[in-house]
Amino acid sequence: KTERLAAILSQTPVIPVLTFSDAKSGLETAKALRDGGLTVLEVTMRTPKALEALKAIVDEVEGVTVGAGTILEPEHVQQAIESGASFLVSPGSSSRLLGAASEAPVPWLPGVSTVSEAMQLSERGATFAKFFPAGPAGGPAFLKSLVAPLPELHFVPTGGIDMSNVQDYLKLRNVACCGGSWVAPQDAIDAGDWGKIQSLAKEAAALKAR
Ligand code: 3PG
Repeated sequence: KTERLAAILSQTPVIPVLTFSDAKSGLETAKALRDGGLTVLEVTMRTPKALEALKAIVDEVEGVTVGAGTILEPEHVQQAIESGASFLVSPGSSSRLLGAASEAPVPWLPGVSTVSEAMQLSERGATFAKFFPAGPAGGPAFLKSLVAPLPELHFVPTGGIDMSNVQDYLKLRNVACCGGSWVAPQDAIDAGDWGKIQSLAKEAAALKAR
């Protein structure tokens, strides 16, 4: 599963973090992001229609790899997989989730925001973690400090990232790619402004990961 996760994360400099209130806006947003060049998407489990939107994208939008985000409960793991998620993302990790995710057939990207959490995941064999909330938890300077003591661990910083600071993360040798909602802002989704989402995606897709 680690190799599969590595392959997914290496496909893109940026993973859009998406929250949908209906399947149709999910479909249109996913197409706009793909057409802009972003092909790995994270659909958060924060709304009643999240699973429906995830499944619709998996079934109907070609050329994208779709993960389920904001996985907080072991029950979410099962539901996300049944809806077709290719990977799972959590803002942190808990012992219940660790158990459920290790048995899941798809890879899991757990969140960390401290050195001890990062060490605990390393101990369990993880090589990738979401760094969340990246800005408030210490930003690029924090991640840079982990390169020497934890050289095997690679991060997907998410939280407070946009075009103004994304390169500060992407240039670090322990950053795989970045996550964020700036490429598909909620107001653009709500307004159906797919052109805006496509152009934001294009700008982000042109970024170079290390
Ligand atoms: C997430 O769950 O990863 C965050 O809500 C994304 O953070 P952002 O909106 O600051 O990009």
